[in-house]
Amino acid sequence: MSNSAAPQSPQNRVYIKNGQVVNHDRSFKADVYIEDEIIKFVGPAADITIPDGVRTIDASGKLIIPGGIDPHTHLQTPFDNAVTVDDFYHGTKAAVAGGTTMIIDFVLPNKNESMIEAYNKWRSWADPKVCCDYGLHIGLSWWSDTVSEEIGILCKDLGINSFKTYMAYKGTYQLNDSELLDVFERIRSLNAVAMVHAENGDIIAKNEKRLLAQGVTGPEGHELSRQEEVEAEAVHRACILAHQVDCPLYVVHVMSKSAGIEIARARQRYSEKYIFGETLASGLGTDGTNYRCQHFDHAAGHVMSPPLRPDKTTPEFLMKLLASDALQTTGSDNCTFTKKQKQLGLGDFTKIPNGINGLEDRMSVVWEKGVHSGLLDPCRFVAVTSTNAAKIFNIYPKKGIIAVGSDADIVIWNPQATRTISKDTHHHAGDFNIFEGMTVHGVPEYVLVRGRICAENGSVHVSRGYGRFVATPLRPPFVYDSIEGKQEPEVEEQNTNVAKKKAELYSYLAAQEPPSTKFALNSTPMSPEAADEAKNPPGGKPSGFW
Ligand code: URP
Ligand code: ZN
Repeated sequence: MSNSAAPQSPQNRVYIKNGQVVNHDRSFKADVYIEDEIIKFVGPAADITIPDGVRTIDASGKLIIPGGIDPHTHLQTPFDNAVTVDDFYHGTKAAVAGGTTMIIDFVLPNKNESMIEAYNKWRSWADPKVCCDYGLHIGLSWWSDTVSEEIGILCKDLGINSFKTYMAYKGTYQLNDSELLDVFERIRSLNAVAMVHAENGDIIAKNEKRLLAQGVTGPEGHELSRQEEVEAEAVHRACILAHQVDCPLYVVHVMSKSAGIEIARARQRYSEKYIFGETLASGLGTDGTNYRCQHFDHAAGHVMSPPLRPDKTTPEFLMKLLASDALQTTGSDNCTFTKKQKQLGLGDFTKIPNGINGLEDRMSVVWEKGVHSGLLDPCRFVAVTSTNAAKIFNIYPKKGIIAVGSDADIVIWNPQATRTISKDTHHHAGDFNIFEGMTVHGVPEYVLVRGRICAENGSVHVSRGYGRFVATPLRPPFVYDSIEGKQEPEVEEQNTNVAKKKAELYSYLAAQEPPSTKFALNSTPMSPEAADEAKNPPGGKPSGFW
C-alpha cells in the first residue's frame, strides 16, 4: 500500500482489524484502512501492509457498519411557538454518540419567506456547529410562482434535491390537492424527490375543535384528533397525486399499520421506485398508550405528528414493513422541546409543541426491536438505518457503505453490549427521553466521522463545525432509473430474507380485501395471474410472518 506524499498522523490514519463488515447487501470478514477521511482498503489482512504510526483498533467480535444516516431531523427549528432545544451542536453530538454520522435536516421557511433566504439562514446556523456531516431538505411551507422559481435555484445551485409538502397543519403549512399537484409536477420536472407529511389537516382541525368543545383538553386529545385513518387517507391520496404527475414520492414518518399498508399497496400498484416510506425510531420503540398517562409532562413529551398509536402491536408491524421492504428508511424526526416548552399546551392539547427525541437512540432502538428480536438481519439493519437514505437522496456510495473510496463514516458496533437509555445520560439538550429506561442491545463502541474518531467506548469527542454540508445531487439513479425504464439491479432482492418477507407481505395483502382499483387511474388493475402469483409467491408460501 503506498503512502501519499502528505505528512500523515495517527489522527488521519486508522486501521480497523479483525472485524465483520456489514453492508446492505452482504457481510464478510475484513480489515479496513482509512486515510485522509476516506476508506482506502477493505479486505483480508494479508493484502495490506500498514504504515507505522497508525491508530489500530481491534474489532474482534464486533461489526463494522456504515455510520447511520438520519434523514429526518429538526434542529434549532422555530416550530409551534417554540424553538427546538437541540441545536446543531447538541443534536449532532447526540447523533454521533449513538452511531449516526450524517443527518438531513429540514429548512422550514416562514409563510411568504424566500426559500433561499431560509436556506441561507439554516446554513448559517448549522455550519459553525455541526459535529457530523449534514444535508438539507426544504419544507415547502407555502406555494407560489416565486417558490417554484426558487426551488429550481436550490436544486441547480445550492445542493438540494428534496422538498417536503404538508397535508396537515391547516392554516399554516398545509397545501391543498391542487397545490400539491403543482408542486409534485415541478419537482418531477427537476428530477428531484418529493416528500410528504401525510395527514388530513381538514379532518384534524375539525376534530380538535370538537374535542376541545367536549372538554377534552389533555394530551390524549392529540391522538384522538388524528387517528389512524386520518393518516392512511392522506397517504393513499398523496401516492395517487404524485403518481398522476409521474413524481416519485417519499412519505415521511409512517406511524400506523394502515398507513404502512397504503404504502405497500402503492408500491405494488405502481413501480416500487415511485413510493418510498420512512418510519421512525419512536414508532418502533414506543407507543401511544403514553398519551393516557396522568402526568402531563410524560404524556405531552410523547406528542408528535402523526401520533404514536395506542395499538401496542403497531411497532412490531412497522418493523415487519421495514423487513419486507414496504418501508425503506428509519428517521428520528428529532424535534425536541423541554418539559417547560411542552407546558405551553397545559389546558389545550392543540398548543403542545409537536416533537420528540430519537437522534441519539435511533440506531440502538432499531437494532433492539429489529435485529435482536429476530425481525431484521444485520444487512437489512444497515439498509434501513443508512444505505437506503443514501441512495434515495443520492449521496451513495459516498455515504452508506463500507467500500474503498467512500467517506470513512464508520461505526464499530457491539451487538452483545447493552445500555439503558435515560435523559440523565443522553447527549441531547432536552430534559425528557421517550425511551427512558429501555435497555437496548447494540452499542456503538467507536464512531468515526470522515475518519476522525469522535466517540470511543462511551466518551464523545466531537468538534463544533467539523461537519460539512453535503450537497444532494438531482436525479438519484436509485429512484429515477427504474421510473424511466433503466432498471438497476434490485439490490434488496439480493437479500433473500427481504425477498422472502416481501413475498409473504404480498400474500398477506392479497388475502386481505383486494386492492381498490377505483383510485388507481393510471395503473393496470391486478390481473388474475398477478393475483394468483401474489397468493403463491416465488419465495414460497407465507410462514405466518404476518
Ligand atoms: O411532531 C413532529 N413530527 N414534529 C416535527 C414536525 C413535523 O411534522 O415533522
Ligand atoms: Zn418532522
